[in-house]
Amino acid sequence: MAIRNIVKIGDDTLRKVCRTQLNFDERLAQILDDMADTMYNAEGVGLAAPQIGILRRFCVVDTGDGLIELINPVIIEKSGCQIGGEGCLSVPDRCEEVKRPLKVKVRAQDRNGNNIIVEGEGLKARAFCHEIDHLDGILYIDRAEKK
Ligand code: NI
Repeated sequence: MAIRNIVKIGDDTLRKVCRTQLNFDERLAQILDDMADTMYNAEGVGLAAPQIGILRRFCVVDTGDGLIELINPVIIEKSGCQIGGEGCLSVPDRCEEVKRPLKVKVRAQDRNGNNIIVEGEGLKARAFCHEIDHLDGILYIDRAEKK
């Protein structure tokens, strides 16, 4: 387990579309462990692979009720709407209002490659959307409400 460097805005890595994760091996497990360490150390509620310089489709989220690992996540349902303040470990010292669905359902794989469905509401839905955006090179500031 180790704390990785978090890539900051201005680095091209954050703007790339990440590739599907195909190998569910010890290396993936190691990276996921490091991502959780890095997220908790930075007191974030989510971290996506490109934020530690890895252009693959996976992320970790913990909005206070336990760690969730999402490999190759896809939002398959969304409903409702929430507008609230959002930040990002890659965009330090900023917070902007962003509109997100109130509830989402995500299809993904776990670290062993098993298919999972995860649902989130409120902050968890916001975190899922934010992290999955990272996998497509999208930052929350791109979606921020116009002031
Ligand atoms: Ni972020």
